[in-house]
Amino acid sequence: MHYRLFFISLLVIVLTGCNSSTNKDVVVENEETPNKELIMVEPSEMANLMNEMYAFNEAIKQQILNGELNTSYSTRFDNIHSAVLTDPSDRDLNFESFSKLFIESQKALFEAPKEELVMRYNNAINACISCHNVKCSGPIPRIKKLLIK
Ligand code: HEC
Repeated sequence: MHYRLFFISLLVIVLTGCNSSTNKDVVVENEETPNKELIMVEPSEMANLMNEMYAFNEAIKQQILNGELNTSYSTRFDNIHSAVLTDPSDRDLNFESFSKLFIESQKALFEAPKEELVMRYNNAINACISCHNVKCSGPIPRIKKLLIK
């Protein structure tokens, strides 16, 4: 692999920040074998939680489309208030208010009458997107796929 190309891609990866949680810890091991040393370090606790919230909403989207919601709120999501971020400075007042908004809208879904399920589900997903607009725009195209059209 060309070294220059390699370092340019490395730079691109690092600059895209939270597009993937692991980016900031890219380590080059040994210059002599430049093909194998893109070692990714463990995703942050928050990145894992986010992926879990994604999978959860993907699953309930399917339930709602099938006309029934047979899951309840996962209290694990409350960890958004404490989970360790890749970049701890992301946790500021903005982050806290977006977290609250998200948790409230996610909970509200499970108190919804049947005819409001779609609306409340989309509200929760829009709360994901609101925070991401400010904090971490990379995953937004993926999150938008969760919306029920
Ligand atoms: C309060 C702000 C906030 C809310 C609400 C929020 N996110 Fe995130 N999300 C973040 C931040 C910040 C990161 C980067 C986390 C890190 O790297 O430590 C992130 C990362 C992600 C990632 C990338 C994870 C990875 O593997 O790097 C996905 C996917 C994601 N969020 C989806 C969602 C979904 C789906 C929701 C709603 C169900 C949601 N987010 C709600 C702030 C938020």
